[in-house]
Amino acid sequence: ILDSESRTDNFPELQNDLILRAARGEGTERSPVWIMRQAGRYLPEYMDVRKKHGFIEKCKNPSLACELTLQPLIRFNLDAAIIFSDILVVPEVLGMRLKETPTGPKFENPLDSPEDIKNLEQEPDVEKKLGFVFKAITLTRHRIRGQCPLIGFSGAPWTLMSYMIEGGSSTSYMKAKRWLFAHPSECHTLLQMLTDVIVKYLIGQVKAGAQLLQVFESNAGSLAPDQFAEFSAPYLKQISEKVKAAISEEELENVPMTVFAKGGSRFLKQITSLGYNVIGVDWSVSAEAARELVGSDVVLQGNLDPAVLYSSKEGIREATTRMLEGFGTQNYIANLGHGLFKDTAIPNVRYFIDSVHEVSQRMNEE
Ligand code: CP3
Repeated sequence: ILDSESRTDNFPELQNDLILRAARGEGTERSPVWIMRQAGRYLPEYMDVRKKHGFIEKCKNPSLACELTLQPLIRFNLDAAIIFSDILVVPEVLGMRLKETPTGPKFENPLDSPEDIKNLEQEPDVEKKLGFVFKAITLTRHRIRGQCPLIGFSGAPWTLMSYMIEGGSSTSYMKAKRWLFAHPSECHTLLQMLTDVIVKYLIGQVKAGAQLLQVFESNAGSLAPDQFAEFSAPYLKQISEKVKAAISEEELENVPMTVFAKGGSRFLKQITSLGYNVIGVDWSVSAEAARELVGSDVVLQGNLDPAVLYSSKEGIREATTRMLEGFGTQNYIANLGHGLFKDTAIPNVRYFIDSVHEVSQRMNEE
């Protein structure tokens, strides 16, 4: 890493601002596209790095994180990169410790009872604990050479809290849900602690060079409407408001913000009031239904079922076309409705990306 690659005042000029224009609700000649989990195990070049380096190690090493972020950009005509990292690094700021397991990253010391909240770090140092992400973002902004914008991200409070309690992925999130009903006020304490960390983390990412921010509420699906309204929505709102206030007070780059609540399509209308520029849509609803719910002025992102990429070229083209017709080519960012599967065929990924560009451009010309 060169000295000049650690600076934030000398980034190469951006060549493709399609996704930033779409996110701000400005017109675009074709729809921008990127893919959740676009860096990952379906790429042989990712698997090569994976043979030598563990997952957490890859997240914490800025050179490796940068290399992995750029891998899909070399192959595909993508309109954004997302920094290689994981949502689970954030609770480490509060004293949680991640470990590698064959089924993914897990916490060594999951929260067992609300008493454990007192043992978490009460004065978390985001810069010290997550500085590696900031370094990776700054380095990547240089090495991406302006090809497209770089997205930074964080997990949302409820999603991170549920992983802190469960330890790792879970099918039902029953332990975490038990807390919501058995210990509501302690849950609010923990959610607020996470929110404070996430706000600092996202502001740090903007200072480091992130050009768009996405907040992943990946466990929205496990919440009934009342619990979403009490334990998720208010914190998502606080995050957008506080990050935007800091951007304006500190005169930082005015980056757009996206919220993606997986399993939260039921709450789309409600989510439009949380202060985000872009709303991610999962694959469980049709594009028409999503558009119908929020209207044509809201910028939406999504939502092809990642499993569609197992179908034939004709199948991919047809589903992509229907998605574009349903959302419309304006106020829209194309993506999958959840992360890419690890056994997806590379030509199909390419065909999806190119189809978005070709079909949306043709629709705009008609
Ligand atoms: O989208 C991207 O390419 C950016 C990087 C990114 C990763 N994870 C890399 C990753 C992002 C944005 C995430 C988010 C993330 N991580 C979420 C929210 C999005 C979602 O999927 O709902 C969640 C829940 C996690 C937690 C996580 N990370 C789990 C449960 C697992 C294990 C399951 C799995 O798919 O492997 C991971 C591992 C992970 N995160 C990998 C990658 C590339 C695979 C690591 C490997 O085996 O090499």
